[in-house]
Amino acid sequence: MPTSPFAHIYTYVTYLFGTRPLSVLDIGLGNGKLGFIARDLLDVMLGESYKREDWKTRIDGIEIFPDYIQDHQKAIYDNIYIGDAFEVIDTLGNYDMIVLGDVLEHFEKKQALRLFDKCVAHSNKHIVIFIPLGNNWNQPEIYGKPHEKHLSAWQFQELELFSCSHEVFQYAPGPYGAFLIKKNDYIDYRIRKLREPIKKTKVRNSPGIRERYSLCRESISKIDLARYDRYIANAEHRNYFLDTNFKEHYRLIAYLSTFFNNLEIFDIGTNKGYSALALSYKHSNRVISYDLVECRELHNSEELSRIDFFLGDVLKDKRLLKSPLIMLDTNHDGGFENIFYRFLKKNNYKGLLFLDDIHLNRPMEVFWNSITEPKEDLTDLGHWSGSGLVDFLKTEE
Ligand SMILES: C[S@@+](CC[C@H](N)C(=O)[O-])C[C@H]1O[C@@H](n2cnc3c(N)ncnc32)[C@H](O)[C@@H]1O
Repeated sequence: MPTSPFAHIYTYVTYLFGTRPLSVLDIGLGNGKLGFIARDLLDVMLGESYKREDWKTRIDGIEIFPDYIQDHQKAIYDNIYIGDAFEVIDTLGNYDMIVLGDVLEHFEKKQALRLFDKCVAHSNKHIVIFIPLGNNWNQPEIYGKPHEKHLSAWQFQELELFSCSHEVFQYAPGPYGAFLIKKNDYIDYRIRKLREPIKKTKVRNSPGIRERYSLCRESISKIDLARYDRYIANAEHRNYFLDTNFKEHYRLIAYLSTFFNNLEIFDIGTNKGYSALALSYKHSNRVISYDLVECRELHNSEELSRIDFFLGDVLKDKRLLKSPLIMLDTNHDGGFENIFYRFLKKNNYKGLLFLDDIHLNRPMEVFWNSITEPKEDLTDLGHWSGSGLVDFLKTEE
């Protein structure tokens, strides 16, 4: 049914009041009560604007069932996107707050966690979860809609770990939780979790890679990306690109590029263009950057004469196998990543392969674990979602 309990509503109001988001994305908006409360508090009460044309907060929603959406939700939300949130969210920008109200339990656990990672990536500041807890909130399909079924059960302990504020309410089937999560707290939590297995993989997989390439915080800290500021097109990405706290990978890949001179470095998965920008750090090299779709957003890109951007199949580019450094940052579902890795092996590639997001989700973990060449998990020096380096120059010691 497209609604939820009511005990958490005042808690939701305190979350909104305390964080004052300028934009909200309500995932699985259903009948729309969470959007209505956000509008009423943020614009009508705090913004003192009861007229729609004066509303300042952007409130968008995603809903999988089009027939749940009626005139009353359309009057409150700015945009309502119809479709599976797991896919739709990839097409949207960022929001100050992303609300998951009684929706995570409609996904299988693994997919729910991947959706949550996507929410973190699309949130500027906060994520809010309202969710039944324990194992007794069973719900079958209703109204003949398969997505109404509960597919996963959640425990207080697993969400409390990274939430800055939470509350639990008691109902007949069991507890029900409200969690406010700061984006950065969740990233810190993931980094802490990821560091645990890193020690094991380092010893088992790759004696010597760090030493061979002087990969340490001290060397990488010498890379200063500030000179690229004029190319950065949005404030949020400025924070990522210029990060100096070893949460992002841009300094690490710029550092890797300094090992080479007068060579062509490949960047696969251009996206907004920031990895190509970092890989162009050493002036004598060229960067060849590929994507399947155009989504670049760099400023002053006409000045970036050492980067060539292409749309199309990178595997058809004859220069690829001669590249000493390749960065792969594509779909993160293990599909193209595996095809690409097998292509390098089959063609006897000799160089370094940098992989982004190796711990983002299960398929990426499986992909990373399947690599048999000497490799090193560099997450502690790179991206919080996992950075890995594969050394095709060396055979296994
Ligand atoms: C229990 S209702 C919650 C409605 C609202 N968030 C609230 O708290 O009142 C869950 C909603 O999530 C929607 N939903 C379920 N799976 C979804 C998916 N994969 N993508 C988008 N919406 C989904 C359902 O159709 C339903 O409207």
